[in-house]
Amino acid sequence: MDQFEGKTAVVTGAASGIGLGITEALTARGMKVVMADVQQASLEAEAERLTRENKDVLPRLADVSKQEDVDALLAAATDAFGPVHVLCNNAGVGGAPGPIWATPPDAWDWVMGINLNGVMHGLRAFVPHMLDHGEPSHIVNTSSIAGLMTGGGNVYGVSKHAVTRISEGLYFDLAERNANIGVTSLCPGIINTNIVGSSLRPPGAPPREAPSDPAVAERMASFRRYFAEQGMDPRVVGELVANAIRDNAFYLFTQDEFAAGIKSRFDQINAVANPVLPPPLPETLANDPKV
Ligand SMILES: NC(=O)c1ccc[n+]([C@@H]2O[C@H](COP(=O)([O-])OP(=O)(O)OC[C@H]3O[C@@H](n4cnc5c(N)ncnc54)[C@H](O)[C@@H]3O)[C@@H](O)[C@H]2O)c1
Repeated sequence: MDQFEGKTAVVTGAASGIGLGITEALTARGMKVVMADVQQASLEAEAERLTRENKDVLPRLADVSKQEDVDALLAAATDAFGPVHVLCNNAGVGGAPGPIWATPPDAWDWVMGINLNGVMHGLRAFVPHMLDHGEPSHIVNTSSIAGLMTGGGNVYGVSKHAVTRISEGLYFDLAERNANIGVTSLCPGIINTNIVGSSLRPPGAPPREAPSDPAVAERMASFRRYFAEQGMDPRVVGELVANAIRDNAFYLFTQDEFAAGIKSRFDQINAVANPVLPPPLPETLANDPKV
């Protein structure tokens, strides 16, 4: 899809971080964007700012973990702007740290409900619509490098591996039908957003308990500092996403530094070897993608 001007996009998780960065990049290319999120105050504030900059945006409260909200999002988008050409299934939340067996059921369901089911809700609502109108379209599913690398058991990694596989399956299902719909699997590395220890805790989320173990608390604090200091500007990620849509690129990685960790997992599988942890996070990230 290489024509953006006057076309319509729907971006979930658009009130913050990567979703907001994608919204900025697409509106800068002349697209109308429906911004969906559960954070009413920040959603409206960002939409008002973009409207003041003469961008065509529509803020819409929608919880992606609910199929009825996502169906209503499609209806709101078509009512306001006509056919939808780009869907960014981007809303996501971090998961509880700790061993996989210690993940409480409600924390598991909450992360899976948003990160995994949220993507499925988007596909169920929007793919039939895109197939019906038949104009060039594109779907971006936000996975993560955590959706390709191995590591400690946690619900976040599990949800993102599933999203990667869904995007691959979607790609083949659409190709089999000669559909005019491209697919991108966005696999961000480290991006400076609100995802780590977010103060913007979505309504309905289980409360994030402060870790009682000081060592765990310090690890989380240093993780937060790392994202803030080394993370890529989400507006740069937005530009990369717009380019991937234009180029019909399936995989989109933001930082080269994580390639070794991904390769190491596939090397272990190819060698039928036992898993080995990926290299530790690099101290500094170059953050110099070709935009
Ligand atoms: N920041 C990173 O380094 C990084 C790395 C890899 C992948 N990701 C992925 O990028 C995506 C965006 O995250 P971000 O880093 O911009 O974080 P963020 O917290 O800044 O933004 C996420 C947005 O999603 C919204 N959201 C949460 N639950 C929702 C729901 N149920 N329905 C609708 N909206 C909801 C939040 O309110 C927030 O505005 C997520 O899928 C995340 O897993 C981020």
